[in-house]
Amino acid sequence: MQAPPGHTLITTEDGSTTLHSQRFDETCHSTSGAREETRIHYLEGCRVHELLTKHSHVHLLEVGFGTGLGWQETLALSQQVPTTFLTFVSLELDEELVTWALPQATRYQAGERVWYQQDFPTAQLKVIVGDARTTLPFWEGHLEKFHGIYQDAFSPRKNPTLWTTQWFAYLGSLSLPGARLSTYSASISIRKALHAAGWGVFPGAAFARKKSSTRACWNESSDAGLLAELEKHPTPPLSDTETP
Ligand SMILES: C[S@@+](CC[C@H](N)C(=O)[O-])C[C@H]1O[C@@H](n2cnc3c(N)ncnc32)[C@H](O)[C@@H]1O
Repeated sequence: MQAPPGHTLITTEDGSTTLHSQRFDETCHSTSGAREETRIHYLEGCRVHELLTKHSHVHLLEVGFGTGLGWQETLALSQQVPTTFLTFVSLELDEELVTWALPQATRYQAGERVWYQQDFPTAQLKVIVGDARTTLPFWEGHLEKFHGIYQDAFSPRKNPTLWTTQWFAYLGSLSLPGARLSTYSASISIRKALHAAGWGVFPGAAFARKKSSTRACWNESSDAGLLAELEKHPTPPLSDTETP
C-alpha cells in the first residue's frame, strides 16, 4: 500500500496501520496499536454498541478522519446491529487523505461545500472537507444532533483551534442531551476547557503509555474528584483568545 502525499505509513504493534503526517509531524494513532486505541478511546469511549442497541438511528461525529480507521471500526460494529441506521459525519482538512482512504466514495460539491459520501444498506458516511472550524458551521443546518463525538484532532500544539472552550461549547450545541465526547487527551487544560464549555468531564481509559484519557457527557456534572483535582491546577482552560 502506498501512503498518501505528505504521509508515511506505519505498522503499529497490533498489526493495523497508521499514518505519520509530515505537515503536522504527528502520527494519527499510538504506535502501540491503532485499531486497539480506536476501539478503546472512541467505540468504547462513546459507548457506541450501547447507542446502536438503544436507538434506531445513531448520529456520530468525528473530528479528524485521518486514515478512516475510526469509521471502519464503527461501520463494522454497526453491521452487528443491522436494525439500526448509522450516520457517521467526519471532518478532514486534507482532501488527499480522504481520496486515499475512500477510493469508492463519491465527491460532491455545492458552492464552497465539498464532501465525500458513501452509502451502505444501514449506514451513511459523510466526510466534510476543509478546516473543521469553518466547515461545521457551514453544514450545521443539514445535520441532526449527535449522540457521540470522537474528538481526534492532532495535539493542541498542532491543532490549537480544535481544543478550545469555544470549540467544545460549539460541539455541545450540536449534541443531544447526554451525548458523549471521547478523546485520547488527558491534559488539564483540555479537561478544563470541556468543563468550562458545559461538558461533564470524567477520566477515561488508559492505553499504552498514556495512563488516562478523557470522556465527557453533554450537560451533565463533572466527576467531583476530577473537578477538585483540576481546580488545584493554575493552568487555564484552552481558549480561542490564545490560539494563533
Ligand atoms: C489524529 S488524526 C485522525 C485519525 C483518525 N480519526 C483515524 O481514525 O485515522 C487527525 C486528523 O485531523 C486532521 N485535521 C487537522 N487539522 C484539521 C482541521 N483544522 N480541520 C479538520 N481536520 C483537521 C488531520 O489532517 C488528521 O487527518
